[in-house]
Amino acid sequence: MRVARSLKELESALPDGRRVVVMTMGALHDGHLALVRRARESGGHVIVTIFVNPLQFTDPTDLQRYPRTLEADCTLLASEAVDVVFAPEVEDMYPDGDPIVTVSAGRIGKVFEGLHRPGHFDGVLTVVLKLFNLTKADVALFGEKDAQQLIAIRTMARDLALPVEIVSVPTVREADGLAMSSRNRFLSREERETALVLSGALMEARRRAESGEKPDAMLAAGYAVLAQAQGLILDYFDVIDPVSAEAVSTDYRGDVVIVVAARVGKTRLIDSMPATIQGDPE
Ligand code: PAF
Repeated sequence: MRVARSLKELESALPDGRRVVVMTMGALHDGHLALVRRARESGGHVIVTIFVNPLQFTDPTDLQRYPRTLEADCTLLASEAVDVVFAPEVEDMYPDGDPIVTVSAGRIGKVFEGLHRPGHFDGVLTVVLKLFNLTKADVALFGEKDAQQLIAIRTMARDLALPVEIVSVPTVREADGLAMSSRNRFLSREERETALVLSGALMEARRRAESGEKPDAMLAAGYAVLAQAQGLILDYFDVIDPVSAEAVSTDYRGDVVIVVAARVGKTRLIDSMPATIQGDPE
């Protein structure tokens, strides 16, 4: 496995042939490894990027606090037979400070996660596009947990005709339902217990969807689960369209994503779950 720490090193480390890319911010867990394994199965050379992208952080404390575990990450990736790790420094990615030209997520960047973190998705799309270009990605894999991010990236690829195939990979969960996240390591035992209502609410809402209940009823059932937790500050909980990221109408039937975000202590967690609302449209 080659580890490139700069754009120049990446240039000489880039393999010829089909390049399959997994983008991460490091602090790797089983959710990332599921992406890497799926990348490996899809054939081609696997490139993993590790870069904590300052452009997508709206809170400087969050950026500072974000876990950085490069050595352990590289050990894990070597055991997964990754071909190249690209882990540049901020100065190398943005040598003149913040880039002048950036990508806008448009209206997708202004709802739900974007409403709570203004500019977040513009920062994500800007770095993702740059990393597509640097790695010359043919295929890129992203996790379903960050549902709105996945929608924003798919929309960018479509609207800007990017020559890259986007593949999504289901969320990996702990045995008790908690979605894997690099931020879970910040949770105390009590906070972790509290955080379980997030996946609990998603599962309850999905169960309602599958028995033909409408979005309002799904949300009411999910809110009842969320209300069981003390000390959880909810940012949003909603049922969205998997293509536009807009909240669906109350009589919507078909595929949706249920999304949730909340703060537990000092840690902000997000989760999501795909579902199908059964029944014929009215
Ligand atoms: O999902 C992430 O870890 C990041 O948002 C990404 C896609 C690597 C861009 O920095």
